[in-house]
Amino acid sequence: MIGDKKVLFSGMQATGSLTLGNYLGALKNWISLSDEYECFYSVVDLHSITIRQDPATLRKRARDLLTLYIAAGLDPEKNCIYYQSHVSGHTELAWILNCFTYMGELNRMTQFKDKAAKHSDNINAGLYTYPVLMAADILLYQADVVPVGNDQLQHLEITRDIAQRFNSIYGDVFTVPEPYVGKVGARIMSLQDPSKKMSKSDDNPNASIYLMDDADTVMRKFKRAVTDSEGCVAYRRQQPGIYNLIDIYCACTGKTPEETVREFDGKGYGEFKLAVGESVVDVLRPLQEKFAELSKDRAYIDGIIKKNGEKASYYALKTLRKVQKKVGFPEKIR
Ligand code: TYM
Repeated sequence: MIGDKKVLFSGMQATGSLTLGNYLGALKNWISLSDEYECFYSVVDLHSITIRQDPATLRKRARDLLTLYIAAGLDPEKNCIYYQSHVSGHTELAWILNCFTYMGELNRMTQFKDKAAKHSDNINAGLYTYPVLMAADILLYQADVVPVGNDQLQHLEITRDIAQRFNSIYGDVFTVPEPYVGKVGARIMSLQDPSKKMSKSDDNPNASIYLMDDADTVMRKFKRAVTDSEGCVAYRRQQPGIYNLIDIYCACTGKTPEETVREFDGKGYGEFKLAVGESVVDVLRPLQEKFAELSKDRAYIDGIIKKNGEKASYYALKTLRKVQKKVGFPEKIR
């Protein structure tokens, strides 16, 4: 708890351009929860270097991501929006937690297996211990709740296991966090292969809607989205392409799948895809406008970075000190 509020933590990687999946699966829920909780939203740049990055590109993307959090509607005066690399407690706690995590647990992580397969020339130790750094992110702020998309649930599970293991040895040190997964949009799939999740790193640009795509590009990608030969807008797993489009439409309009199916009863896929595309354009337009406006104001963004970095460090250090003492590190002489 901070004051009388429970704590929320979440983060996104600054690798690649954010997709509609990131927005509907995570960012949108961050905004809806932000009044209720004391929130920490991190740009997790430490995680990004588990894959080789061009330094200048990473720096630019990290700043764009931070700006985008604000453009999407998170008030940086109320929410702590900051760079993970500006708070050294993340890596310090990660080291300690590494010593409370088993290789057997890490071996089971599906995201590690996927990334190792994709980057077989660079299976580094950071990629392997990635979930431990993520656990450190969350536990450092004693977070009660962590809003994420479906693909991060396994990482939340290991975070809970590490916290419980540590607590069982040293007493109640960490709050054991709960994941928060939204009812719609928790798993947005590729527009070109609806058996795969929509991802920043997809090689096929038509597979993902990027948050900075202009209206024409969005409409073109939806027109080309893979569907099936059934020819009816129905919400069932046997029609994964249409199922995904209904999910997107519902997440963007607030309608339910039943209402959507009724709305497009007897109508063709062409008409439906057009409506889905328009609903996405309506969501992206204000976000893009605000992003363009904020990006011009360097001094304002710099101020947020500084102030919130200091705020995050303050809370991080509180937990870190407690943990260091528990494991037996000598106190600093002041
Ligand atoms: P990242 O950067 O891959 O994704 C950021 C958020 O977007 C969600 N997401 C999706 N949701 C629905 N459909 C999709 N297709 C889709 N793709 C991505 C993710 O679930 C995530 O919530 N390891 C994390 C970043 C992280 C983090 C943390 C998250 C680091 N530390 C602590 C929460 C708490 C990651 O790589 O997310």
